Amino acid sequence: MALDYRNSRTPEAEVDSMFIDRWSPRAFSDKPLTDCQLAGLFEAARWAPSCYNEQPWLFIYAIKPKDRERFLEALVPGNQVWARRAPVLMFALARRRFQSNDKDNRHAAFDTGAAWMSIALQARRLGLHAHAMAGFSRQKAYKILNVPENDYDILAAIAVGQRCEPSVLSKEVAAQEKPNQRQPLVNVFAEGQFKKLV
Ligand SMILES: Cc1cc2nc3c(=O)[nH]c(=O)nc-3n(C[C@H](O)[C@H](O)[C@H](O)COP(=O)(O)O)c2cc1C
Repeated sequence: MALDYRNSRTPEAEVDSMFIDRWSPRAFSDKPLTDCQLAGLFEAARWAPSCYNEQPWLFIYAIKPKDRERFLEALVPGNQVWARRAPVLMFALARRRFQSNDKDNRHAAFDTGAAWMSIALQARRLGLHAHAMAGFSRQKAYKILNVPENDYDILAAIAVGQRCEPSVLSKEVAAQEKPNQRQPLVNVFAEGQFKKLV
């Protein structure tokens, strides 16, 4: 297949709309999730594939105001300003070693990424959005969550909720409230062998 060098969309490729409908908003309504919605997110993550079916992820979540306040403390200010409205905050952790033999699991982050994407896609199915964040203090997160650093890598924070009007955000943050573009396929797929990015 000839990959299009110019366009960020390949016109002949049809993908399920769920992939296009997922994006990362910042304007969240503070409406809590129902137990059923929350369970749906968890269940979606549970079915993600993983190396040796190890399921090395651990999602620590906050829905109670007190817990959300605690989780927020670990986020950088630029994320705190919008994530504080989200009714669910999570941290995605990956277990560093296989449970079966205690050897290093080099694929734990890959697997946890798959589980996060399942959450993000299931969120859209439920009329919700999920927004991942790398902008947090790892040191604070380990402390706040009481996580043994030798055993788990804290990979990302995640906000989940229902999207609302961008007017709840400051002007600067509201200006970012749109789906992002993507690189053309030719930059991220290479046939047969390695190809340096131009
Ligand atoms: C691991 C990871 C870390 C991210 N960190 C942040 C962050 O700290 N703050 C933020 O506002 N967005 C963050 N994002 C969101 C990305 O900017 C966003 O996914 C990307 O621009 C693509 O846009 P889309 O998700 O709307 O399609 C992060 C996303 C991922 C997957």
